[in-house]
Amino acid sequence: MEIYLDNSATTKVDTEVAKKVQEVFVDKYGNASSLHSVGNEAKEELKKARERIAEFIGCSESEIVFTSGGTESNNLALRGLAKANLNKKHIITSVIEHPSVLETCRDLEKDGYKVDYIEVNSEGIVDIKKIEEKISENTLVVSVMHVNNEIGTIQPVKEIGEICKKAKVYFHTDAVQGFTKVDLGLKNVDLFSVSGHKFHAPKGVGFLYVKNGTKISAIMTGGGQENELRSGTENVPGIVGLATALDVDNNENVIKKSRDKITEGLLKIPGTKINGSLENRVYHNINVSFYGIEGESLMLMLNKDGVYVSTGSACASTKLKESYVLKAIGVDDLYIHGSLRLTLGNDVVGNEDYIIESIKKNVNKLKEISPFKFEEDKEVENEK
Ligand SMILES: Cc1ncc(COP(=O)(O)O)c(C=O)c1O
Repeated sequence: MEIYLDNSATTKVDTEVAKKVQEVFVDKYGNASSLHSVGNEAKEELKKARERIAEFIGCSESEIVFTSGGTESNNLALRGLAKANLNKKHIITSVIEHPSVLETCRDLEKDGYKVDYIEVNSEGIVDIKKIEEKISENTLVVSVMHVNNEIGTIQPVKEIGEICKKAKVYFHTDAVQGFTKVDLGLKNVDLFSVSGHKFHAPKGVGFLYVKNGTKISAIMTGGGQENELRSGTENVPGIVGLATALDVDNNENVIKKSRDKITEGLLKIPGTKINGSLENRVYHNINVSFYGIEGESLMLMLNKDGVYVSTGSACASTKLKESYVLKAIGVDDLYIHGSLRLTLGNDVVGNEDYIIESIKKNVNKLKEISPFKFEEDKEVENEK
């Protein structure tokens, strides 16, 4: 039995996507900047892919800048805005952003930028009022993610965008975890980041949406591809793969049902807590904590049962650092250490009972050897 429940880390490339990518690799292998027929074929594929993505988003083709993925898109957004708007030296972001935003902000602080990291509430929702209060004449950009990669919380991007629009401040959102899953709405978003490998396209390809009229500079010098914003030969097979992956069915309603069934089953285990919002949450995410046990041990035990999940901050979970996202939403240390993230895909369907039983069995084994005993009478009910 093999059940992959780590779709926020990465997804399996869809078979149709892989076929299309292979075709471009082998038959349309030209450099899209070359002027001969082989180059023109690649250029045509690139054009078609850009058109499809623009149609999907409802934007103009000139607003898409292909990159190597989410990390680069976030860097380009923040550093590119900073470079083109030297008179503004203040950035607002949230404490639960992905490291590709947080570390970029920290790096910009070294260059003299002031960055405000806005707190979130116990559900992981950012405080809009605090954003509004912090905006000043000096503010360049507000960067708040669409969907959090650990707890799946959906941020009020529409409202944040409205505030930014009124204040004439750029609004960037890291849409890596939400794109194709949760509607973003373009109205008040100036820039958003996307990564192909989160929705069944290959790794190493993504894009930054940049609203026409945005003052932004390139952060890499070179041949001036992508409207002078991202130099480097375009990854045409990857880009075509990303465009093709827009047609993959997410099976949202089916997966949501599985998610609810598993959540219900897990909450029957004493000392179990769901982290993040139950309402404002992407449909495939379960972030769950078991009191007093080690999440890493549990993950390895589940691995033996063929159930693949992640713990802590999955993108860099080899570091085994305690999750700053769970800390930020006020989760107790004894729950943080016993946290698991399950991000479901088609594998889950029909395997819900096996997953619940495997988790239950292994949690109980770990509880037996844990020095921290969960006392039911101390907690009135399993916290949701
Ligand atoms: C919210 C978020 N932003 C950015 C990234 C980075 O994307 P990439 O792996 O394409 O660089 C990730 C990856 O996990 C993510 O979850």
